[in-house]
This record gives sequence, structure tokens and C-alpha cells, in this order.
Amino acid sequence: MNLDQPAIEVDSLVKRYKRTTALDGLDCAVPSGAITGLLGPNGAGKTTLFRSLLGLTRTDSGNIRILGQEIPARLAEVTKKLGAIVEEPGTIRALTGRVNMTVAADQLGFGHERIEELLEFVGLQADAGRKLDEYSKGMRQRLGLAAALVGDPQLLLLDEPLDGLDPAGQMAFRARLRDLADSGRTVVVSSHDLADIEALADYVIVLNHGRLVTQGPLEDLLSGAATRVVTPSAEEARTALADAGMDVRLDGTALIADEEDGSRVVRVLAESGIYPSEVGPARSTLESVFLGITGDDQG
Ligand SMILES: Nc1ncnc2c1ncn2[C@@H]1O[C@H](COP(=O)(O)OP(=O)(O)OP(=O)(O)O)[C@@H](O)[C@H]1O
Ligand SMILES: [Mg+2]
Repeated sequence: MNLDQPAIEVDSLVKRYKRTTALDGLDCAVPSGAITGLLGPNGAGKTTLFRSLLGLTRTDSGNIRILGQEIPARLAEVTKKLGAIVEEPGTIRALTGRVNMTVAADQLGFGHERIEELLEFVGLQADAGRKLDEYSKGMRQRLGLAAALVGDPQLLLLDEPLDGLDPAGQMAFRARLRDLADSGRTVVVSSHDLADIEALADYVIVLNHGRLVTQGPLEDLLSGAATRVVTPSAEEARTALADAGMDVRLDGTALIADEEDGSRVVRVLAESGIYPSEVGPARSTLESVFLGITGDDQG
């Protein structure tokens, strides 16, 4: 993951529709050579951001740089290095998977030599001779990924690519994206599903109401400064910690106190005659991070 040379830089980006400000001064950066999860509830601005990056919609103000080039002014310089799925993959239902791949390659001005390899990469080789009409949603999704990869892009922008895939399909899709990142590509994946992003991303950008809520390596977002305590006297412990000014919540049978210093937690409990069976740093889930930041209006 390389943050010194971001693949995408977005600076004070504003996109207004008649009634909505879809992007409201958004600042964020996507590290190169990693998988970035773009996370936000419905209506947060994820698709609008992708459309802006791809020059599919005009923004009102702010700056975008992709692979060092100003967008949209120098979009032509980078299009050959970009692969994308934004909303429904742009495929033709009456044609077979394989023919759709050739159409995608022709449209982008690439040869056909990688098509079989890509169909195999997404696990569609056996179905490549069937028309898309006969494809399930998951199969169309996988074809969309294969088509996005036809020019061997350096940067992949995937809007909700896991949507509609069954668990096995999601796992296979994630593994493919990991292969791409391991070989130095930059992948950006949007989702409103925290578990998707937690299972996939190296770096996370959280959006809400068209603004950046937080961004950073997944590990940093998950290792918050809190202490986890297990004790049979959870209620008394909770009261004691709260009386000492800590914010305390229940996590299963454990308590999570917003105090980084575990020894202080132990001291407060001991002063109340409580001796915990376990004390250690709390590892938050992305869900708790997300709910903590966005409040209860998660989509
Ligand atoms: N073409 C449009 N005309 C008017 N408003 C739009 C248009 N496209 C998006 N919006 C508005 O912009 C805001 C952001 O929408 P966007 O589609 O970017 O959200 P999203 O994060 O992709 O949501 P979802 O998770 O539902 O896909 C929403 O309030 C939406 O209603
Ligand atoms: Mg969307």
C-alpha cells in the first residue's frame, strides 16, 4: 500500500443536483497497490464519486487527480489504464459472454488475446458460450469484472461489485481482487455493507452526506484506543468504570471501556473490589466504528 503516491486524489469536490448536494466538499485519497473500500450508507455519494472520477458526470467545483492527471481535463490520458463497473455492467444481453468480451475489448481498443484467460479468471469459461439472457445476476457480475479487466488496467473502480453474489461467489470475487492488488493494481470497491469491506479492504474511506467521515488503513480504524474487560460482575464493573468517567458499552459478555490504559481500568475495578478474569486492548469491528461515526442513519 503506497499513500505517498496516491492513485486517486480528491480535493474539495462538490457535485450538486437540483435538490441534493451529492458531494459536499469531499476530500480523500486512494493509496496505490491496495484494495480501498469506499463505505457509506445509501445516498452517501459513492456512485456519484465513481461517476465523477470516470468523467461520466460534471462536478461543480474541486479537483480530481487520477494517476497524477487532472480529471476531467486529462481523462483521455488515463482511460486506457482504468477499468470500471459502475452500476449495471455495460453488457449486451442478446450476446454470449465471450462475444460481450470481444465487444468490450473493441470498444476500448484492446486486442482479444486476454479474453479466454479472463473468462477463466472469473470462473466463466464453461458458460462463455451462453447468452447473457441466460446468466444469473452473479454470472453477469463476474462477466462485468472480466470485461473491466480486458485492458489489464492499473486502476479498477468497482461500484458495489459484490451485490447479488452468493457467499461462495463473494469469496471467489474477493480472492480475484486480492490477486489483482497483490500484482500491484489499485482496486476501489464501494459497498454499504461493513462486513464486505472488513473482509476485503486494506484501506477504508467512509463517506456520509457527500463528505469524508474518516479514512485510513483498516487496521488503524479497527484498533481504537479502548480496553476490553471480562468479569462475572459486569453490572458492578460497568457502574464503577462509568463513575470513573469512562464510556462503557457491553460487547457480548465483555465490557468495552473507552480507556487506552488497561492498568487504569484494572485499578478502578480493584478499588471497587472487582477482579476481572480478562483485560486487554479492544479490537473494534468496523460496524462499531461506523455506527460511532455516522450515528444511527446507516443505510
Ligand atoms: N441523477 C441524479 N439526479 C438527482 N439526484 C441524484 C442523482 N444521482 C444521485 N442523486 C442524489 O445524490 C445523492 C448521492 O447519491 P449516490 O447514488 O451517489 O449515493 P450512493 O452512495 O451510491 O448510494 P447507494 O448505496 O444507494 O448506491 C443522493 O441523495 C441521490 O438522491
Ligand atoms: Mg450507489
